[in-house]
Amino acid sequence: MAVSIGQQDTERGVERATLLAGIRECEVLLSLLTERIDAEALRAGPHLRGVANMAVGYNNVDLATATALGIPVSNTPGVLTDTTADLTWALLLAVSRRIPEAEHYLRAGRYAIWGPDLFLGADLSPGGSGVRKTLGIIGYGRIGRAVARRARGFDMRVLACSLERADLAGEDDVAWAELDTLLAESDFVTLHAPLTPATRHIIDERALRLMKPGAFLVNVARGELVHEPALVRALQEHWIAGAALDVYEHEPALAPGLAECPNAVLVPHIGSASTDTRDHMAVLAARNALAHLRGQPAPAAVNPEVYDGEPYRSRLGVA
Ligand code: DGY
Repeated sequence: MAVSIGQQDTERGVERATLLAGIRECEVLLSLLTERIDAEALRAGPHLRGVANMAVGYNNVDLATATALGIPVSNTPGVLTDTTADLTWALLLAVSRRIPEAEHYLRAGRYAIWGPDLFLGADLSPGGSGVRKTLGIIGYGRIGRAVARRARGFDMRVLACSLERADLAGEDDVAWAELDTLLAESDFVTLHAPLTPATRHIIDERALRLMKPGAFLVNVARGELVHEPALVRALQEHWIAGAALDVYEHEPALAPGLAECPNAVLVPHIGSASTDTRDHMAVLAARNALAHLRGQPAPAAVNPEVYDGEPYRSRLGVA
């Protein structure tokens, strides 16, 4: 039997009390990134056999508690890689070429005459100067790599960094860099790291002050990677040239002043929002959910070690 928990409410998400009451009843929870599946929520589900999160990020789920309680957690990796990488490039172009600003100007009826300095922006490609631009990618996993592949079309130099050094075999056009070097040398910095205690506020005042005054920041990962009040100051005081954000520190709220920054392009967490990709995410989440229900390893479990543990076996009632 499928239990729908608060799905009819598309404005505020699921009320906490409704969520907890629903979890008490269900064997598998198919959750969205807007639901906080913390220790309280996991402990509320005596029959819970798994959590299928419909997102590649699973920072909304308390993984350590889930594992300790013997609850497998799964996500939807792979299917959204290209779509999120594409949005990264859309945002890079939008902010560097000032596309939303220029569009508002036109729609407001202010376009009276063309001029040589109308909406001057920055090149991603070598452009008229012939100078190659540097793209710094923080978080070099599936999505970071897909962003790097697209940089070839813009003839960019690519620097990458992650908490764990990636194998760059076959990627001669990508160089590994320490975070501070990447920040200081990049014309464009994009964020693709998962949110963990180590990556929270990886872009803070110190990091922003290391960036070039002409540089742009793009975040399509998780809002908490960036200390948003520091970013607002950086945009207001022109420590950097601009930022394009898909995610926010206290989503859906924005830090005071952010919405008023003309050098910010802001979209509402649409990184994976293509019809095709959302269909594939839903199917993968459903496959994970069915596997959880049947007591089988989920296709995309993020804590597969749980299957070997006693808490999982006793939860399923098997010896
Ligand atoms: C994810 O999957 O983690 C995105 O943020 C939403 O698609």
